Amino acid sequence: MAYNMERWHSAVQARFSVRRYDGPPGVEELTALAQAAERIGGQGVRILLGQGEDIFRPLFLNYGRITGATHFAAFVAGPEAQDHTVGYMGEAFILEATALGLGTCWVGGSFRKSHTASLLPLEAGERIVAITPMGLPGETYVGRPRKSLEALTGLDQEALQALPEWQQSALSCARLAPSAVNRQPWRFQPEGRGIRIIKTSGNFGFGGVDLGIAMLHMELGAAHCSVSGQWQEMGDQPLFVPEAENL
Ligand SMILES: Cc1cc2nc3c(=O)[nH]c(=O)nc-3n(C[C@H](O)[C@H](O)[C@H](O)COP(=O)(O)O)c2cc1C
Repeated sequence: MAYNMERWHSAVQARFSVRRYDGPPGVEELTALAQAAERIGGQGVRILLGQGEDIFRPLFLNYGRITGATHFAAFVAGPEAQDHTVGYMGEAFILEATALGLGTCWVGGSFRKSHTASLLPLEAGERIVAITPMGLPGETYVGRPRKSLEALTGLDQEALQALPEWQQSALSCARLAPSAVNRQPWRFQPEGRGIRIIKTSGNFGFGGVDLGIAMLHMELGAAHCSVSGQWQEMGDQPLFVPEAENL
């Protein structure tokens, strides 16, 4: 995805799920977000901005409680859209919002779906896959736990350090990807000149979205080392293959 890969790579390090908000985005940020939503959407996925009260509700006990947010973006899939495309594009939008200094949080479950749908100009056959609140963060950065790269790849430290620098960067960036209930349902497999991501769980229906999020992160980590490439063998086990001239 040609946008600003390095800007989003930096945003990966700053992003975390913000569940308490101190106010809405400013007018300039809202304009920038509307432009980003237009530019990023495609392949049957639309990113729609909305505003309203009582959008969010906790799932059980207090999990997923979002407070203080009135503005949101919805990641909407048309009939032909693939879940991984929603994840990939939604995460690009979330990283752009992060780069603008705003708080975000992927929310697939803890929101009022039909109420939210009533606030949006949905077309026939479109469904809301997830939304994110957008606003001034009311909390400071928390780095939530992640599986080790050893666990995610099955490789030991020595083997990891022997990988080309771009692959190490791609893996480190993919490791920071958010996923539903922080399950991290992926296996990362360096393979030939590329890296494969294997989806390891349906994750309450969000495994495909999680896969797309990890794909974008992997690409951003590679781009950080000036390596661009293509995804091949799409499905549950896509393979990222760098362009020969990058290596
Ligand atoms: C597809 C998806 C759906 C999610 N749904 C919810 C949700 O319904 N409610 C919520 O509070 N957090 C939700 N999250 C946020 C995750 O719990 C969070 O990303 C994960 O615990 C990692 O934490 P971090 O984002 O702070 O790194 C979701 C994340 C993803 C990727």
